[in-house]
Amino acid sequence: MALREIRVEGDEILEKSCKPVKAMTERLKELVGDMFETMYHADGVGLAAPQVGVLRQIFVVDIGDGKRFVCINPEVTAVGEEIQTGEEGCLSVPGKQGIVTRPLNVHVKALDINMEPYEFDASGLLARAMCHENDHLSGVMYTTKVEGELEDVNYEDLEETDDEDSEG
Ligand code: NI
Repeated sequence: MALREIRVEGDEILEKSCKPVKAMTERLKELVGDMFETMYHADGVGLAAPQVGVLRQIFVVDIGDGKRFVCINPEVTAVGEEIQTGEEGCLSVPGKQGIVTRPLNVHVKALDINMEPYEFDASGLLARAMCHENDHLSGVMYTTKVEGELEDVNYEDLEETDDEDSEG
């Protein structure tokens, strides 16, 4: 595995739509391994393939609760009407955060690393991460959804308030 370069806002690849994965290949397996390594190295909780320059419908998520998600060709749908409003960040927009409203609960259908279908419900931070990463696959940056102004991340505050924030 290897670290990949994370594309940052302004790189037009981040605003393009990704194509579905038709078949798993050694190359794509390596990509997924590299995405996890790159995400952990950057202290993120999620990373989508376009963020490392690959326009395929793949993202990885690990919010630190012991579960690692590989979502290929995912569908993320809101469950119910409840929403959550909170701070969000993105590894492609380093040092910034903003307030974004997301569904509180979502249902995710995806293929796993073996191209086997699976599905699950997610709520709270995990639901937020799923929505954020899924948006990347459509070329949608969270900055287009921020309520008010983007703010500079105060890293001291982050440490004090523990891991409420998500960067993906
Ligand atoms: Ni992101």
